[in-house]
Amino acid sequence: MNLHKIKTKMTTKTNTPLEIFVEAGTKYSWCSCGFSKNMPLCDNAHREFSDKKSFKFIAESTKAIYLCGCSETKTPPYCDGSNNCRS
Ligand code: FES
Repeated sequence: MNLHKIKTKMTTKTNTPLEIFVEAGTKYSWCSCGFSKNMPLCDNAHREFSDKKSFKFIAESTKAIYLCGCSETKTPPYCDGSNNCRS
């Protein structure tokens, strides 16, 4: 653990999957640290507040999808219900 990154900051996590619109072939970064101001997508807040890295994925089709909003899923970037999420 990198001690210089430990700061007091509220996360922006939610206990529900969050909808985003994606375009086929475009690369996205899902937030795994929970500090992004652009949840569920990464805004590089982990560089200051966490050692966790974003999860990169490429959209297979153009459509609205739901991504994990709690940053605790075991199947990133999608919700797996591991946080008793509201869906
Ligand atoms: S919103 Fe994160 S596991 Fe469901």
